Amino acid sequence: MELLQKIYNFFPDAKFFGLYDFLTPIFVIRDPDLISTIAIKQFDNFCDHQGFVNETLDPIAARNLFNMKGDHWREMRKLLSPSFTSSKMKMMFELMCQSAENLTNFVITQSGEAAKTYNMKDLLSRYTNDTIATCAFGIDVNSFKNPNNEFFLLGKEALNFDGWLAFKFQMHLNFPQLAKFFKLRMFGPRVENFFKNVVATTVKARDEQGIVRPDMIQLMMETRNDDSRSEFDINEMTAQAFVFFLGGFDTISTAMCFMTHEIGVNPDVQGRLREEIDDVLRQTNDKPTYEAINRMKYLDAVINETLRLYSIAHFLDRKCVKETELPSATPDGKPIMIKPGDRIWFPVFCLHRDSKYYQDPDKFDPDRFLNGDVNNSVYMPFGIGPRICIGNRFALMEIKIVLFYLLWHCDIELDVKTRIPLMLKKKTIALLPDGGFWLKLRPKKSKIPVTPCLSNGHRIEGQ
Ligand code: HEM
Repeated sequence: MELLQKIYNFFPDAKFFGLYDFLTPIFVIRDPDLISTIAIKQFDNFCDHQGFVNETLDPIAARNLFNMKGDHWREMRKLLSPSFTSSKMKMMFELMCQSAENLTNFVITQSGEAAKTYNMKDLLSRYTNDTIATCAFGIDVNSFKNPNNEFFLLGKEALNFDGWLAFKFQMHLNFPQLAKFFKLRMFGPRVENFFKNVVATTVKARDEQGIVRPDMIQLMMETRNDDSRSEFDINEMTAQAFVFFLGGFDTISTAMCFMTHEIGVNPDVQGRLREEIDDVLRQTNDKPTYEAINRMKYLDAVINETLRLYSIAHFLDRKCVKETELPSATPDGKPIMIKPGDRIWFPVFCLHRDSKYYQDPDKFDPDRFLNGDVNNSVYMPFGIGPRICIGNRFALMEIKIVLFYLLWHCDIELDVKTRIPLMLKKKTIALLPDGGFWLKLRPKKSKIPVTPCLSNGHRIEGQ
């Protein structure tokens, strides 16, 4: 993202510029109006992503929505969209609260009344893991009580984009034929079979015992029972549940880490959030509801500002499927033709940090979202147009709940290992800081009954 920002800053007046991603020429669109035109008005000409999973090597992962193309994508998006409406998110609210309670119970039990240092990435990954397990796969895994549960370990291993996986990812993006020739599987049969097994066992148990639970498996089972969708089988269900892992495991925990970091570094922000949380607790008699949490304006602003400053997807990609003319990049240039197969990026990280659109862009300032200073055409943490992140409501709900619970029960403090300012790590393709995320959590007097979940002496990373 830093390299892209350098090149972006090199062409302040151009509507777009070009670069090579290894051997592939990329058109990087700088102008927000042109981005909207391509992503929304001309969507049919640019409807696909490049994709990074090969169908023969990773058949289940390749069937996930992000990877799908053309009409196949349209059909699946239409089928899945009803599962991501506000009412479905409300249905999963209790499940997410249960995972957040497990997290705060763990911190309270570990720390007593003292402040304890935590590796926040590990801590919050356990929360996102448990939320995905319960909301998407319909199973209960408490990763605080059972730190080495297979679901967590396999998910972490499958999505560790630091080394070999990052290499395979680049190969699939840039040299798909070579990647296929060398049989470079992104995830491989062990991971796919594990998740397929989880889904198959859950569906079987529910069919046999008539269990109904407010989660994705339930919603997909209802779709399956619709005669017109008889092909919605276990493979398809696994592929779509796996999307939560691909889309929601690392992204959400990373966003939460940046958020808790900024809250720790900015005590005034923490104070204002706590006031808002106390108000909600007063109004709801310590039983926060979906509606009450969703009405929290300052919490919203803090989340939006974090996703602006640290846009987890630092660029969006589109692939041209129909020849289209783009206007000239500069006033003295000529229009150009984009051909099927040509690739386009929208440089989200650069737009989010451009002083033309955001005053003092490197400053963490949630108030800009309260003052109406933000123009939506240059704010796209979840993407833009019909291919916008299908899980954005799910992600926002999950983040709101964990921040609410953490600040309800703990103070966030800095540790000697907390890096200020955060410097982005150069050896990974993910947006992560050098040195990791380290913070202290000091429990406050809590009303959550502390269950003896940790009496077995398990320790997790950073304790
Ligand atoms: C903070 C968390 C998240 C961020 C920042 C994020 C961001 C994004 C972005 C930028 C895109 C590409 C959009 C575009 O090309 O215009 C995307 C697509 C997608 N995301 Fe997320 N996402 C998050 C969480 C999730 C979750 C929890 C899920 C789980 C369902 C999910 C599932 C997907 C899927 C399936 C797509 C592909 C959609 C399509 O092609 O139709 N994401 N996400």
